Order: sequence, then C-alpha cells, then structure tokens
Amino acid sequence: MVVDDLFLNGEFMPLASGTVSVLDRGFQFGDGAYEVVRFRGERFLWLDEHMERLRRSLAALAMPSADVAARLAAILPELASRSGYPEGSAYLQVTRGAAPRDFALPSEPVLTELAYVRPHTFLSWEEVNAGTTALLQEDMRWARCDVKSVSLLAAVMGKAVAAAAGTAEVIWVGTDGSVREGGSCNIFAVVDGELRTHPTDRHVLDGITRRRVLELAHGAGIAVREDPVTRDELSQADEVFLSSTMRDVLPILRIDDLPVGDGRPGLVTLRIAEMLRAAVTVELAVP
Ligand code: PDD
Repeated sequence: MVVDDLFLNGEFMPLASGTVSVLDRGFQFGDGAYEVVRFRGERFLWLDEHMERLRRSLAALAMPSADVAARLAAILPELASRSGYPEGSAYLQVTRGAAPRDFALPSEPVLTELAYVRPHTFLSWEEVNAGTTALLQEDMRWARCDVKSVSLLAAVMGKAVAAAAGTAEVIWVGTDGSVREGGSCNIFAVVDGELRTHPTDRHVLDGITRRRVLELAHGAGIAVREDPVTRDELSQADEVFLSSTMRDVLPILRIDDLPVGDGRPGLVTLRIAEMLRAAVTVELAVP
C-alpha cells in the first residue's frame, strides 16, 4: 500500500517519490540541519524543544529560516495521520537548497524543507535490560557538535569502526581524555554514587532526552553533576548509559570489550529508564 509519509517543499507524497536536485547543498556540502522526533498517533514527543533546537541549528548555520520550523511542526500531525503508522520517528531536514556549487553562501537561497515519518517499535523492557556495547574513539568531529548538522560522516565512520569491533556504538573522547557523547546519543556515567555527564558546550548535542534524564534524576534525589568523566573514570564507573530519542535510556554493559561494573544494568540506570518510560507514556497518551 502506498501512503503519503513525506512532506517535501510544501507537498505530501510517498517517501519513494521524493526527489531533490543534484545541486542541493545538503547533497554537495552537507549544508543543512535535522531533527529526529518520536511520535505515537498524532502526538509528537517534546516537539517544541526539538523545534527550538532546529531554530538554533539553522541560526548557527546562518540560514534564513523565516519560520521553517513552525511550518514543518504544523504539518506533522497530518503527516502521521496520512502515513497510517501507529508509532515511529519523524525525520526533519532543512538544507540551504539547490545552487551552483560554490562554497560562498548563495545570496537568495531557496531552502529544501522536508519531513518524513517511519514506523518504529521502541525498545522493550527486555531489550533495555539486555543493554548495549560501545567502543571508545578519539573525537574526530568538527568543533560545533551543538549544531545538529546533517554532516554526519564522522558518526558514520565511527559507528563503522565500532561495528567492525563487534560493538554497537562509538563513544567520542576528547584529546584531553574527557568523555563527550556517543555517535548519536548522550552518555552518562555513575561514578562514586554520582551521575555525571558532559555539560552542554560545543562538544556535545543538547539532547532532549538528556534534559529529561537530568530533570528526573534531580527529582529523584540522585546526585548529578554536569562535569565530564575522564576515560579512566569511565573504565572504573559502576554504571554507564546512553540517552537518545530512538533508544530512550539504554545501559552500556561493555566498553572496549570490558564489562562496565558487574556487567549488568545498574540500579540508577534502571530507575531513570523506568521514570523516563513513564514520562514518555504520559506525554504520548491520547488526551
Ligand atoms: N541523534 N548526541 C548526538 C550526536 C545525537 O545525534 C543525538 C540524537 C543525541 C541525543 O539527542 P536527543 O535526545 O535529542 O535525541 C545526542 C538522533 C536520534 C539521530 O541522529 O538519529
């Protein structure tokens, strides 16, 4: 069955029918920004925060956004409904559009704006308990990781190196030894009873799930510090977990093929994972 699951430059259409110019700067230069938002029915999880982050990314890329974020946000419920997918993720992308290949910014860009939805089943509690694995690698990304840019080659190659080593995710480490974030997730560690994560500077994305984790931890009286753990501290951590829209909170049970703590999901991690699931359920419930 063919359904409309893409909205491209003002029109709904099936994803397979969407085409973009070879000269699109997203294609030529990775010149664009994106968001990934979870949905159920016609409800989109923490949409305002995703749209506010999209606006910030576009501003950092000096894109005259007019109100592309608001335009895309407004059509999302209809897109979900036309797709018929009960639950999944929406991918939103804005690029600086098609223009003759030139590094200089076009004076009057016509942005390429799109959103599409995909069906997705989020992790079951069994899958959360099974956890995941990661490989540490030196951060080789650009210096504006706070911008959700479509230039994702470092993440693609980092994840490929991780996969070749039999692991599921890359964890980026700065040259100073500080643990930054994952290939497509934020990273938390429990060290000496304290929950630690990198602060939101230019080395990490200000993850929406990360924000929820910090709020829930504060609310539950868990000691929290936005201060990066070092590579050495990570190797001694009792618990490590990742957070992202697509994976919620997921324990990392092996790093560089060594067990984290006792190799099983920790109590702090599971408590936060449980609270997050409850919060998501409330947010996505039909009013
Ligand atoms: N990635 N850090 C990076 C580098 C990311 O790409 C992501 C999300 C996150 C977590 O952000 P949030 O909690 O807002 O999803 C952190 C999305 C899911 C992706 O690229 O698929």
